[in-house]
Amino acid sequence: MQPAYYEDFSEIKKKIWHMLEDAVSNRNSQFRIPTFMCGYGSEINGRIVVLRKADKENDVVQFHSDIRSDKIDILKKNSNAAMLFYDKEEKIQVRLKVKCIVNHENEITKKSWEKTQHISRKCYLVDNGPGSISDEPTSGLKPELDNFDYTKEESEKGYKNFTVIQCKIKSIEWLYLAAKGHRRARFDLENNKDNWLVP
Ligand SMILES: Cc1cc2nc3c(=O)[nH]c(=O)nc-3n(C[C@H](O)[C@H](O)[C@H](O)COP(=O)(O)O)c2cc1C
Repeated sequence: MQPAYYEDFSEIKKKIWHMLEDAVSNRNSQFRIPTFMCGYGSEINGRIVVLRKADKENDVVQFHSDIRSDKIDILKKNSNAAMLFYDKEEKIQVRLKVKCIVNHENEITKKSWEKTQHISRKCYLVDNGPGSISDEPTSGLKPELDNFDYTKEESEKGYKNFTVIQCKIKSIEWLYLAAKGHRRARFDLENNKDNWLVP
């Protein structure tokens, strides 16, 4: 028996959003750590990020980053990007084409920062930004920070480096691997058009 979403656009969309929403709170979800790709000219790169929000009403997903990361500069030059998800058990691949908004020191970052635990704020406390060259192997952190020996108050210093990248979804592509025949569909959200594709 095939699942309800095998050949039904609205069931597929329901399934995708269920997987995205679940990934935000479920640490075991394989959709929790998608690859985020962006580029400008010959500078194209992908990296794993943690999915922090999936907003079905507004077709937005978001993740957090350090304002000093190379990808921020790239996104300022070209806000078009892509995200890639794969769940091995579900045999579902999802590709998103997105347009990004970099939030920094605004209401959105304030809200997310308040929810970011004291311990998780550590990554925003590095002296030099991610990707900076170092003369020696390093975490980028002072020893007391490495040892989690800092107060919540001290962790506030990381806020100036904290960004929330909102990704407005332009299109969703879904691929489902099935013994009875793979299925592939594209949802063009900008033109409100759904299509089947040859897998
Ligand atoms: C499991 C995992 C989760 C990660 N989560 C994030 C994240 O949410 N945001 C982020 O900017 N980098 C995250 N990273 C680090 C990035 O993959 C990347 O190494 C870092 O952002 C620096 O590269 P960039 O400046 O080119 O993006 C994560 C890495 C791993 C392995």
